[in-house]
Amino acid sequence: MGGRKMRASMTTLLIRLVLTVALLGGEAARRCAAFNPRVLFTVKPDPIVLRDHRGALLTGNHTVNLLFYGRFTAAQRAIVVDFVRSLSDASAPRPEPPGAPPSVAAWWCTIRLYRGGGARLRLGRQIIDERMSLGRGPLSPGNVTALARAAGHHRGAITAVLTAADVPVASFCVSRCGAHGHDRGGAHSRARYAYLWAGNPAQQCPGQCAWPFHLPTYGPRTPPLVPPNGDVGVDGMVISLAALLAGTVTNPYGDGYYQGDAGAGLEAATVCAGIFGTGSYPGYPGKLLTDPATGASYNAVGLGGRKYLLPALWDPATSQCKTLVQT
Ligand SMILES: *[C@@H]1O[C@H](CO)[C@@H](O)[C@H](O)[C@H]1NC(C)=O
Ligand SMILES: *[C@@H]1O[C@H](CO)[C@@H](O)[C@H](O)[C@H]1NC(C)=O
Repeated sequence: MGGRKMRASMTTLLIRLVLTVALLGGEAARRCAAFNPRVLFTVKPDPIVLRDHRGALLTGNHTVNLLFYGRFTAAQRAIVVDFVRSLSDASAPRPEPPGAPPSVAAWWCTIRLYRGGGARLRLGRQIIDERMSLGRGPLSPGNVTALARAAGHHRGAITAVLTAADVPVASFCVSRCGAHGHDRGGAHSRARYAYLWAGNPAQQCPGQCAWPFHLPTYGPRTPPLVPPNGDVGVDGMVISLAALLAGTVTNPYGDGYYQGDAGAGLEAATVCAGIFGTGSYPGYPGKLLTDPATGASYNAVGLGGRKYLLPALWDPATSQCKTLVQT
């Protein structure tokens, strides 16, 4: 209804614009030659408010430790490791030359616009816990914290606990695809350590946590996209990991940037959930790049040409969700 009304008034505006251009003539028309009338019709969306609650954020250099819990193949680990390595790729040009696909490092640049300049992330330790030191699950939130702690909390590190496709974790799929939190260094320590958990959703809930690479469980059932690394679960888990790293750095202790209720608020990436490219709407991730060889969809390129689909991030400079692929 509103859409039709808007279209009608836009048509009127277009007619008026054509008349104005015709009337301008000669000199004025030449001066207006570079003017792109399409911008006139861009409906500026309402700003998205992500309030800064002024608490401590993660800034400066941080390493990301990766703990693989349960069975991951070497190829699966490489997808994740290369993503984290690509976040700090100094050789990635910024800004991107016109026509070049955006880099993973450029995606992270939006986080560097937050108060304090965000954190520069680098790959830290990789820990493989294939034998599952805490058992086959279900893992409780306390178990995940214990794993992060055992992986070695240290200053300037974020530990990411990644659980394999067959490891059940409390609240996985019920309400979330991953989570981030913080832990004290000990009963009497004031040091705080940020950590996160993301699960491989391939078997447990691909329709919730591997969309758009799998048919969604709810909502419009648009055909699934081909994942850029050929792994529905791990390519989906990278989307969660990317969103959680953004949330961890900009709201590490629950009093940074978020919208809504403390502890259950929307953060840098989750406030933009479902948006991966321009023109997205519920059920449609937006305009993306396509790999001509595989038909896979992606919106960022990392080290060694590896492709990823990364979530839109809230941009504090514009108060909008920013997507990498501009069309
Ligand atoms: C952070 O790392 C960069 C690149 O390795 C380095 O140039 C810079 O000095 C480091 N900054 C701090 C505060 O350690
Ligand atoms: C996992 O967490 C539960 C509940 O918090 C706890 O009872 C259990 O001992 C933990 N398991 C291990 C192996 O630490």
